[in-house]
Amino acid sequence: MCGIVGYIGPQNAVPFLIEGLKRLEYRGYDSAGIAVCQADGSLSVRKQVGRLSNLEESLDAEPLSGSPGIGHTRWATHGEPSTLNSHPHLDCSGRVAVVHNGIIENYLSLRADLEAKGHVFQSQTDTEVLPHLIEEILKPGGKSHVEAIREALRLAKGAYALGIVFQGETDAFYAARCGSPLIIGVGDGEQFIASDVPAILNRVKKVIYLNDGEVAELRPSGVTLTRLDGTPTAVVVQEVTLRAEAAERAGFETFMLKEIYEQPRVLRALLDTHVDKNGAVRLDEDAEALLAAEMPDIQRILVLSCGTAYYAGMYGRLLFERWVGIPSETDLGSEFRYREPRLPEHTLVIAVSQSGETADTLASVRLARTMGCKVLSICNVAGSTLLRESDAALPTQAGPEIGVASTKAFTAQLMAFVLLTIRMARLRGIMSEARERELTAELARIPNAIHRVLERQADIRAISQKYYECYNALYLGRRFNYPIALEGALKNKEISYQHAEGYAAGEMKHGPIALINEFLPVVCLCTPTADEVYDKMISNLKEVEARKGRIIAVVTERDDKARAFAQDVIPVPETIEEYSSIVNVIVLQLFAYHNAKARGADIDKPRNLAKSVTVE
Ligand code: F6R
Repeated sequence: MCGIVGYIGPQNAVPFLIEGLKRLEYRGYDSAGIAVCQADGSLSVRKQVGRLSNLEESLDAEPLSGSPGIGHTRWATHGEPSTLNSHPHLDCSGRVAVVHNGIIENYLSLRADLEAKGHVFQSQTDTEVLPHLIEEILKPGGKSHVEAIREALRLAKGAYALGIVFQGETDAFYAARCGSPLIIGVGDGEQFIASDVPAILNRVKKVIYLNDGEVAELRPSGVTLTRLDGTPTAVVVQEVTLRAEAAERAGFETFMLKEIYEQPRVLRALLDTHVDKNGAVRLDEDAEALLAAEMPDIQRILVLSCGTAYYAGMYGRLLFERWVGIPSETDLGSEFRYREPRLPEHTLVIAVSQSGETADTLASVRLARTMGCKVLSICNVAGSTLLRESDAALPTQAGPEIGVASTKAFTAQLMAFVLLTIRMARLRGIMSEARERELTAELARIPNAIHRVLERQADIRAISQKYYECYNALYLGRRFNYPIALEGALKNKEISYQHAEGYAAGEMKHGPIALINEFLPVVCLCTPTADEVYDKMISNLKEVEARKGRIIAVVTERDDKARAFAQDVIPVPETIEEYSSIVNVIVLQLFAYHNAKARGADIDKPRNLAKSVTVE
């Protein structure tokens, strides 16, 4: 949700600002802008509505250069996408430029105070209060820039990651963080800031993860950190292990397609990390320690997450109940935080998030912690806020996910739940070693099964060509494939803008059956064949067929029943019910992908969406 970058050093900041913003464009693409302190100390701002390419064109026509510089790509929250609302924002005199990711909640009262003092605002944004506030604090003189920033931030309430440059100050710029992600890249005689690591991966290998409440003063020679009250804090520099190529498209037409194809490798790597040669699951030390301490007492498991990660949580809940035998529930971060929850003692919270920065997930985890819960997080981004606020982690290690629609992070979340629940079942003594071996052996076959589905891409594309013009689509699944029906519908909606509903197949007759006619594609998840819910799915297929719905059935390769009812079938390798979800979702990712492509949508940057939702 908005991306920010910044640079100070001997080079012209502009090429890095553009390159960094390109890598962050997945966070928002309503507008883009930069501010650069030129060699003569003057501060120049350039901004354009729409995609970053518009800003690039403007810079090609009229170049800017200098250092330090800051940049921003916007996902609009306060104020429509327009040039005036684009960042960077300036004070009245054009001496302070600010880029911001987050929301200043008390901006209206701050703005009213400043307007009463004569400040004139240009935009409708919450951000613009910050440069004006800093200007106001600097007015009487005697305060340094960093002191003014700290004072302004003591007055501002809300969430922010900030980059700030001042006119006439070519040897320093500033950054601050509270609630929104921000990292500092430490170079040799140059420093960077960015909303996430991939933006600076090909520039530096050392980073500082800024903590909430810290203000950074960046100079070419180094970084100093202070708290809002001015006390210094230690600078902890960490090595980045990600490789730059991980954030490139590697020849694929989109990041999403690349990420779909990465899934066999990602899942194999996760298995290799956690399953030993005897087929036993071992988690990281902190997770092992947490489970060893908590397992004897856990009464309940609560899974908290949003969006796609919520569907992964629904899947996890089924495994907790089936394999671990502990009552479990899932909730959306955005609901849990407002529902006055009552949690039994010894509730273990499992938080699921690709980014580790989703505001609602973080708020719900914080609420659960105030109620005494321990938190284990399934998360993809190392150093993220969620991981730092959790007692233990199961990192999904899927690598940077740039496509806005989540794919590889989702399947990695599903596999993480499998590993976690097998381990918990073993620790609880309700799963034998032999069963564990059996389950991990079957799990090891999943990457190949996914590979086989990927080989069917051309068939899946051909089927999508028949349906992409339909207005609606229905996705049906049961039990372990119910969350997958929801995820398939979400994927389709978000990237192709074709309306889609995911439903528990058994619920169809309670309402959605009214939608069925010869124009409605109904995607039915009918695997595995040897399963008690399979026959129930067959009954649902009959109900759809009787009403002339157009059935697209995902079936096992040896299926001979379901295919009899379907206009189109997509065969997938057979596995156990618990793992069929991981295989079936690949079909739905590709189906949504080709629907979106046929409909001419911008797949990596679907309209109105942003990759990580760091605001409520
Ligand atoms: C959908 C999608 C979103 C995210 C949701 C939570 O493709 O990506 O629904 O799953 O915004 O994000 P994270 O997992 O970063 O907490």
